[in-house]
Amino acid sequence: MARPTRRDDLRSMSGYHSPQVTVDVRLNTNESPEPPPAAFAAALAEAAVSTQWHRYPDRQAIALRQAIGTVVGLDPASVFAANGSNEVLQTVLLTFAGSGRTCLTFEPTYALHSHLSLISGSSVVSIDRDDDFVLDAEVAVEAIKANAPAVTFLCSPNNPTGVVEPAETVIAVLEAVESVGGLLVMDEAYGEFASWSAQELLGEERSLVVVKTFSKTWAMAGARLGYLLGPAWLVEELAAVVLPYHLDSFKQQAGVAALAFEAEMKIRIAAVVEQRGRIESGLSDLGAEVWPSGANFVLFRAPLDGDELWRALVERSVLVRNTASWERLDGCLRVTIGTPEENTRFLDALAEILA
Ligand SMILES: Cc1ncc(COP(=O)(O)O)c(C=O)c1O
Repeated sequence: MARPTRRDDLRSMSGYHSPQVTVDVRLNTNESPEPPPAAFAAALAEAAVSTQWHRYPDRQAIALRQAIGTVVGLDPASVFAANGSNEVLQTVLLTFAGSGRTCLTFEPTYALHSHLSLISGSSVVSIDRDDDFVLDAEVAVEAIKANAPAVTFLCSPNNPTGVVEPAETVIAVLEAVESVGGLLVMDEAYGEFASWSAQELLGEERSLVVVKTFSKTWAMAGARLGYLLGPAWLVEELAAVVLPYHLDSFKQQAGVAALAFEAEMKIRIAAVVEQRGRIESGLSDLGAEVWPSGANFVLFRAPLDGDELWRALVERSVLVRNTASWERLDGCLRVTIGTPEENTRFLDALAEILA
């Protein structure tokens, strides 16, 4: 039998990897350390009973988009929802990028931006951030003018560095993107932990979308739900490309149910931000190099080989993300902010290893 072969342009691609090791303390995937409130689970139980399982879902996810619109203060016509922000990003790429078009990323950043761009058939141009992982606006504008990308990605706060892009940089990048007829995708998966959002720059005449997720602040990584805010005309373009009925009925209801607990979400954010300060200073006290973070994780470089440190933490049943071999992140690890107890376990384990 002649086996089918993978597309030539995807031959060298390895899938997305994040080791799932069984440990007591999981601080590797930037999830919420706390689950949603018990009342949310009760609402879901009711939704499971009332769902019309024999019927296809609402293709336009109207109730969900309305609920999101209410929380973010936008018309539902400006909201597109999908199975996690990864599916949102993929839909944007299938719609606006693809063969013969270019996508632009500023590295190091979220690996799926270039990964999904390549899968969409686009070519990818990657520009380096400076040594502190800050994006030089002039370099960015030059790269946009030189490459005329169909899609430019900015991640703020940036994964894995935690850096929040200043408004001046985003405005400069957006103006350059618009001058070449491209689209700026602001990935704000961690936006609620930061001091500002590019949502304030949105408009019908702006080539800007802001992508957000229920996986982090809404404590719903298990549900796979994300959304995009952008011009209504652009949302219609996405709806024309995405698979019909891609968002199941139960998930749509889960999203609506989650949004009723905004106050609880804000309490979870405040707790994470407080613990982030504790982790940052704990790491500095232990002699690690720490990048100031606007997200629910912290990138650091301890005075020990990164792989060795990662293994020593796993031996103490603490799992963090090993970014030590990633380009430009030599020796670095990324730790998600956990519960106070989990953070104590992490800091104690690190202190023991470095002693
Ligand atoms: C920057 C960034 N964007 C998007 C995602 C994908 O999130 P989702 O769970 O909504 O697909 C992640 C997940 O870690 C992320 O870090």
